[in-house]
Amino acid sequence: MGSEKDDTMKEITSLCKRRGFIFQSSEIYGGLKGCWDYGPFGVELKRNVQEAWWESTVTWRDDVVGLDSSILMNREVWVASGHVKGFTDPLVDCRECKRRFRADDIENEECPECGGELTRARQFNLMLRTHIGPVEDESAETFLRPETAQGIFADFGTVQAASRQKLPFGIAQTGKSFRNEITPRNFIFRTVEFSQMELEYFVHSEESEKWFEFWRDERFGWYKRLGLSDENLRLREHAEDELAHYALSCVDIEYNFPFGFSELEGVANRTDYDLSQHIDQSGKTTDLTYFDEERKERIVPYVIEPSAGIDRSVLAFLCEAYCIETAPTAGGKEEERTVLKFHPRLAPVKAAVLPLVKRDGMPEIARSIYDRLKKKFNCLYDEKSSIGRRYRRQDEIGTPYCITVDSDTLDDQSVTIRYRDSMEQKRIKPEDIEGIVREGMEY
Ligand code: GAP
Repeated sequence: MGSEKDDTMKEITSLCKRRGFIFQSSEIYGGLKGCWDYGPFGVELKRNVQEAWWESTVTWRDDVVGLDSSILMNREVWVASGHVKGFTDPLVDCRECKRRFRADDIENEECPECGGELTRARQFNLMLRTHIGPVEDESAETFLRPETAQGIFADFGTVQAASRQKLPFGIAQTGKSFRNEITPRNFIFRTVEFSQMELEYFVHSEESEKWFEFWRDERFGWYKRLGLSDENLRLREHAEDELAHYALSCVDIEYNFPFGFSELEGVANRTDYDLSQHIDQSGKTTDLTYFDEERKERIVPYVIEPSAGIDRSVLAFLCEAYCIETAPTAGGKEEERTVLKFHPRLAPVKAAVLPLVKRDGMPEIARSIYDRLKKKFNCLYDEKSSIGRRYRRQDEIGTPYCITVDSDTLDDQSVTIRYRDSMEQKRIKPEDIEGIVREGMEY
């Protein structure tokens, strides 16, 4: 890994902590490996990513409905899905320092610093185990879900009957998933607790490849429309020997993070594998099949699954937005500025309202504009320190528009709008602010 790229990750991590986006969980006790907290701006950014996914996947479509299934499910779900048996990573132990490593990490780059001898690889289940109730035996055992997808398969019949959807149709859900990752790393890229956005799109088997291509292109386009650049995005088809046993085809959408191209989302044709497994395990054939009215028969639909990580998407949008450039100050000098050039749909704060000075009635006018705007979208009011410093503070958290109330406002009620990326300033009427921000948020 190049040191410049190392530095970029360090700078982004440090900005995230300093400005309250993302920081270590339970830091006062030394943190917890692979767990991160989203602070005031981080939680807005994460919600915006999730909402942009939900609106484009569910709200704007007629053929997809939503679900929020529980994190804990009957243990049988994980037996049927194959996770109890097969959701494993090969691990090796160092006989010297007793540390554990993923076998593929050892192959690729990381070796124990002590140079000790390694054991043969052993399979290690990645699910986090827990017990419900007072007795910790196998009957009380279950797992924190390692993917949200199985809740969708288990509820397939109920959701289909209630929503009266006909093939092709999808069920979408977002939420937390957990994996006992042995080497969590790269900030929020690979963590133990993370959030997913998953769609299971059910289709007739003969149409599955057509829909696979549709969702691959749709999801690739979504990242582009929200600001990830062409040169930092690519598709990587899985080779035949890399495909999961249930998948007919699979493609990763990869992003060029500072540590290299890595998976952002997987799009897979999972065939009828999951529903068939649950039919076998539960015996509930009617619930897990679909009555095809044209053919007058019950079929097990195929499923296309675009499965994305919210935290990974947040990291990609942060990396793409992060920019250091020189900019002229009000006094005509050159100064370095740090800017997060988020797409306005994703920016945690859409507009900041700033009185030029703290007198002559400017704060009162600015407050009244702010009070009106904050009911429409997330805004900030700031009257502390010089206007130049306040602009820089907003640049650093990625606020696309700053609205300044100055002495001209007192004469003609107009305000200044300053655009984050170009730093261009224009005079507009306060009643036009909402329309400008809304238009910017479109994608
Ligand atoms: N239902 C299919 C499934 O879960 P996956 O490729 O294992 O497939 C899908 O995970 C997405 O979830 C990944 O592309 C990634 O964005 C995210 N993801 C998986 N494991 C993760 C982890 N340990 N930390 C953060 N995100 C993770």
